[in-house]
Amino acid sequence: MKRIIKSTDIIIRNITDKDHYDIESVAKRAFWNLNMPGCDEHYLVHRLWNEPCYISELSLAAEVDNKIVGAILYSKAKIKTNHGNIGVLTFGPLCVDPDHQKMGIGQKLLLESMRLATENGYQAILICGVPTYYPKFGFKTADTFGITMPDGSNFDAFMGYELRKDALKGVTGKFYEDPFFDCDVHDEAYMKAVDEFDKSFPYMEKKVLPHQWR
Ligand SMILES: CC(C)(COP(=O)(O)OP(=O)(O)OC[C@H]1O[C@@H](n2cnc3c(N)ncnc32)[C@H](O)[C@@H]1OP(=O)(O)O)[C@@H](O)C(=O)NCCC(=O)NCCS
Repeated sequence: MKRIIKSTDIIIRNITDKDHYDIESVAKRAFWNLNMPGCDEHYLVHRLWNEPCYISELSLAAEVDNKIVGAILYSKAKIKTNHGNIGVLTFGPLCVDPDHQKMGIGQKLLLESMRLATENGYQAILICGVPTYYPKFGFKTADTFGITMPDGSNFDAFMGYELRKDALKGVTGKFYEDPFFDCDVHDEAYMKAVDEFDKSFPYMEKKVLPHQWR
């Protein structure tokens, strides 16, 4: 039976260097076999810590019983417009350990980090994420704001949120994540590096499942 966790038992806090392996481990467990057989999110997280695009002051960990059970990691992104670039935020991964999902932890991480971002003067967030999850927190598809992906496309998973009222009003342009995120899971050398890195975590079996899209 799933344990019920009181909201007050969930601690949301900044991430320290000592948390890195635990967060990578949560990322592995949360994404394993979700979008592809296995996953690369733990490797992505591992490489993100030292990237200039990573924003440590907005990135948060969730702790229950002195154990890290979730995290949200932010980075700098931009919208290229005809009048120049506009800096925005993106986040990913947002992940919660499977044993602790649907207990309000993802919601706490998201809302607290958005509050911090607003407090720190950031204007807007753009993400590619689960299209059924983020709208309940006020995210709207990016076409609402006149923003597309670099190739001009829009889709349900591509969403935005204005941290300040009308922050994206009149902004028409293309969304660019940092080039750091350009990794190809169909690239043999990249996946070899992922598999090698994965050996530092407990073994999990890769499975081909019908809902996987990567
Ligand atoms: C998606 C994820 C971060 C949500 O975290 P969580 O702690 O399980 O979610 P919460 O308990 O805070 O859920 C808040 C609400 O969203 C709903 N919800 C949770 N996961 C959802 C999902 N994948 N799709 C749609 N709704 C979801 C909950 O039922 C809850 O709804 P309610 O307020 O009406 O009761 C977590 O399930 C996860 O790590 N999933 C695997 C990795 C992933 O997909 N990350 C997001 C990538 S963009």
